[in-house]
Amino acid sequence: MKFFLDTANIDEIRKAADIGILDGVTTNPSLVAKEKKPFEELVYEICEIVNGPVSAEVVSTEFEAMVEDARKLAAVHEHVVVKIPLIRDGIKAVTVLSKEEIRTNVSLCFSPMPALLAAKAGATYISPFVGRLDDISHDGMELIQQIVLIYENYGYPTEVLVASTRNPQHVIDAALMGADVVTLPYKLFDALFNHPLTDKGLKAFLADWEKVKDVLASA
Ligand code: E4P
Repeated sequence: MKFFLDTANIDEIRKAADIGILDGVTTNPSLVAKEKKPFEELVYEICEIVNGPVSAEVVSTEFEAMVEDARKLAAVHEHVVVKIPLIRDGIKAVTVLSKEEIRTNVSLCFSPMPALLAAKAGATYISPFVGRLDDISHDGMELIQQIVLIYENYGYPTEVLVASTRNPQHVIDAALMGADVVTLPYKLFDALFNHPLTDKGLKAFLADWEKVKDVLASA
């Protein structure tokens, strides 16, 4: 399963990339707005750090403008995947972009039907937002199960990218369901490494070693 970081923050991306298991990055206009840097420069900077797909979102909502924006973003760096909102014009734009071999990440997916449309249009990734569904008392992970099954039934190559993740259980469930990718805010990525029993166990091992280390060294 691929791990993407869901942020436009350079420090967070550097810290995660440094560990060596980061496969890509997703951004959205809200995340980019926080960074207060020129958009294309920021996207280029992220692409130079991460050796994998970097999603950058178009902000137009009309077909021709979306295609034009997408072409410009794709030209910024070979790592760019153009993020397109799951609206009618967005699907139409994806059909054109996929023929031009411009990779797309179809975003803001909240039900299986439009996920099927995105796959038919040739999307590279579909991004169902599980946390935002949970927030309104729906089962976000049930949507993942449905999309994975639909794509398997017809052999669509579109990858299921679990977005809007909120906790480690989302990541485990995504892996059990066979989702291709999870994208994680830095705080969640960081939390995946922690287990209190690991910390407790390591402390005990090192304390036991400390008690006898001089004897073992001279033996
Ligand atoms: C996905 O690509 C989005 O950027 C993101 O996961 C949205 O997450 P949020 O619901 O926490 O804003």
